Amino acid sequence: DYYRETYRPQFHYSPEKNWMNDPNGMVYYEGEYHLFYQHTPHDTRPDFGRMHWGHAVSKDLVHWDELPPAIPPGEDGAIFSGSAVVDKNNTSGFFNEEGSGLVAIYTNEGNKAQPGKSQVQSIAYSKDQGRTWTKYEGNPVLFPTDTLDFRDPKVFWHDESSMWIMVLAVRDRVEFYSSPNLKEWTFASEFGADIPGIHRGVFECPDVFRIPVDEDPNTMKWILMLSVGDRNGVNPNDPEPPAGGSGMMYFIGNFDGKAFTLDETLESFDSIKWVDYGSDFYAAVTWNGIPNENGRKIWVGWMNNWRYATTLPSEEWRGKTSIPRELQLRTYPEGLRLIQAPISELSQLRKPILSLQDLTIKPGMNVLSDISAAKAEIIAEFEIGTAVEFGFKVRKSSDQETIIGYNISNGELFVDRTKASTIDFHTDFTAKHKAPMKPEHERIQLSIYVDWSSVEVFGNHGKTIISDMIFPELESMGLELYAVGGELKVVSLQINDLVSIWG
Ligand code: FRU
Repeated sequence: DYYRETYRPQFHYSPEKNWMNDPNGMVYYEGEYHLFYQHTPHDTRPDFGRMHWGHAVSKDLVHWDELPPAIPPGEDGAIFSGSAVVDKNNTSGFFNEEGSGLVAIYTNEGNKAQPGKSQVQSIAYSKDQGRTWTKYEGNPVLFPTDTLDFRDPKVFWHDESSMWIMVLAVRDRVEFYSSPNLKEWTFASEFGADIPGIHRGVFECPDVFRIPVDEDPNTMKWILMLSVGDRNGVNPNDPEPPAGGSGMMYFIGNFDGKAFTLDETLESFDSIKWVDYGSDFYAAVTWNGIPNENGRKIWVGWMNNWRYATTLPSEEWRGKTSIPRELQLRTYPEGLRLIQAPISELSQLRKPILSLQDLTIKPGMNVLSDISAAKAEIIAEFEIGTAVEFGFKVRKSSDQETIIGYNISNGELFVDRTKASTIDFHTDFTAKHKAPMKPEHERIQLSIYVDWSSVEVFGNHGKTIISDMIFPELESMGLELYAVGGELKVVSLQINDLVSIWG
């Protein structure tokens, strides 16, 4: 059946066949959301020497049509991660009389014309809504000076300086460049090399943008996003991200068109803010040019971890995206924090299963024993009572379960996937992932997205996130709401099925 293979995500994007990693070049243009991605169209394993940009489009960020790969590798080397922009004013000169078009800015890896400089930045343009692309004859447009790790350009238009800005991952730092025309780039500044504790892996896939604070579009703040890799470490003694392997950090500050400056000094690894405490959210970057761009920022990540990505047990394809998430900043007693919320467009998939209010749960009971669900949206609010731990067990059978819980004594949200899967495909996969999280006004709020091979948990209205893949049998469909050591008050609970996006 169409998109019904074992483990096939039902409301997440995955390519019909073969390998995908990072989402790339996300841009909205003439009514379509484009999603490009690192894709090996001929293999379920990554062929880094022949990496393409795969391509899918959507009108609503929920339903996707896969198109043929957009940008293939050639003499210029493989096509690694990057971004795409709408060149509204034809600054590049590529579009002449035809008006605006799309320009992709990406890394070429293994460019034969540049021996010893393995990664360079190149551009390509499209005059037909991203369906076909022409590589610029003046490529590459940017070369490294002193490092082989020089990649993943994220480009955006900076209104105040009327310039294109590129933020690039350069081994242990990010570098900013500016350009009037996307072809000539001038170095502006660098950031991150001196922050202690975060250099275990090289930096990858940076992004910089402004988002509203406390839902006020008149108060916008800059934020810098950074993925830190699991290989080619700079300082092997630095700690790993919370769930190990590859992970993502965020930094709040200011960007003046030239340099990014932090709001606070980061003295040690302990002051680093993490985007996700699960194992499987990486290389996320935001869409350029979406409607209401000043009030809305949306991103999507690769739901995976380089630690075991190439060994996943799905057979026809390997790799998928997270659900798209909307980003905001919110003020807390401890300062500003990133909030991620599932995009509201997902609500069109809802089919209500259950809704309850004001219920007391005692140890040993399961009010959800009648429900079976291989995918679901669970939205719940709890009042801390005498229980010491509570939560949901999802994708449950006699010998399988994924526990999404809150430990009251430790103040920790967790996903325990040690018994989530049948197949044992990698030693680092079997794990429990924890995130520090305090109750707010004596309450814990959870929004949970369960799909055929993943769970995404948004704690306290999107402040604390855990995203994890799981590989249960399709028949493991049991659901449980549990409490340990005392009583628990359920303020409200809604469970919805989410209808498959693949029709
Ligand atoms: C991140 C990454 C990028 C690179 C791409 C190659 O996952 O390593 O730095 O451009 O994947 O596929």
